[in-house]
Amino acid sequence: VDLAPYNTLNIEAKAASFLSVTSQEQLISFIKEAGQEFDNLFVLGGGSNILFADDFEGLVLHVAIKGREVVEETDEYIKLQVGAGENWHETVRYCVEQGWGGIENLSLIPGTVGAAPIQNIGAYGVELVEVFQSLDAVELKTGKVKTFYKQDCRFGYRDSIFKNELKGIYIVTKVTLALSKNPQLNTSYGAISRELEKRNIQSPTIRDISQVVIDIRNSKLPNPDELGNAGSFFKNPVVSRQKYEHLKMKYPSVPGYELNEIEIKIPAGWLIEEAGLKGMKLGNAGTYKQQALVIVNHGGATGQEIMELAGKIKASVKNKFGIELVPEVNIVD
Ligand code: EPU
Repeated sequence: VDLAPYNTLNIEAKAASFLSVTSQEQLISFIKEAGQEFDNLFVLGGGSNILFADDFEGLVLHVAIKGREVVEETDEYIKLQVGAGENWHETVRYCVEQGWGGIENLSLIPGTVGAAPIQNIGAYGVELVEVFQSLDAVELKTGKVKTFYKQDCRFGYRDSIFKNELKGIYIVTKVTLALSKNPQLNTSYGAISRELEKRNIQSPTIRDISQVVIDIRNSKLPNPDELGNAGSFFKNPVVSRQKYEHLKMKYPSVPGYELNEIEIKIPAGWLIEEAGLKGMKLGNAGTYKQQALVIVNHGGATGQEIMELAGKIKASVKNKFGIELVPEVNIVD
């Protein structure tokens, strides 16, 4: 099976076998019938945070479980259970239309609902963890369903238990979000407040925030339908305050977000741009001209080409700043 339609970087890798499941029941019966351990299985959602470095010799399991259901409702909040295979942005749009707040800042993030908790998606001052209620997942070995609550998931910056201890153990089938009917808006991110001011919007609605986020993303991030990409390729590195102050002496313009007393997060996009790599090309791969942190496929790039470019970026940043960039995308090889 050709994986190009299933990954937003548009890498033409092949999978030895491929199965799409449309319900939790179907997934469970598949596991029970197969009656084996899967040592070479990859679970695919929207394919928007993935780099197929090579052809994949095992089974790609595509989770296409659909559906949205209100499972609890009061005057204040709503709990909405969503199938893992639903498109994330369509879900955001639906909630915004209903007037349910909490995920409007996460508008236009590519990918599926099931993938959202795996890396705790975040943008413009909001992370999934803030609206996360629970998720249902099927254990690959046994076909048993387990519900994970917030504390069980160990969410962190672009991180959860499903990227660590439980990597490859469970398949997310449903996610329940807790959304507010009287939403507290989050306009803390500079780009949002500036844009609202520019548009003369004094008391924004969730619809306004969603629109502003959509417009900001469209201006900075390439549309994967037009130019293959997987969003931010690396995580923003966290350095010690000491290291940051040191950098600041040499590069007075280095941006930084204080995480706590001792740690500062630096935008990887700034490091890459400062290393002179914004908009550069290597074969068919390159960095995006508007956002250096996004690696793009100009057409026909192989997984290996993207890996090579990523390696060059990593080495340059390491060499110039002594900072180790870590991929944010999942690399499958
Ligand atoms: N910057 C540069 N040059 C660049 C890119 C960025 O100098 O080419 C500097 C600028 O100072 C800019 C700052 O970096 O103000 C931050 O840039 P931006 O607002 O674009 O955000 P980011 O830190 O690069 C993160 C997330 C994005 C998310 C945005 C907005 C990560 C790895 N990425 O990017 O998430 O949309 O913040 O919240 O944390 C993704 O995960 O795929 C993703 C796109």
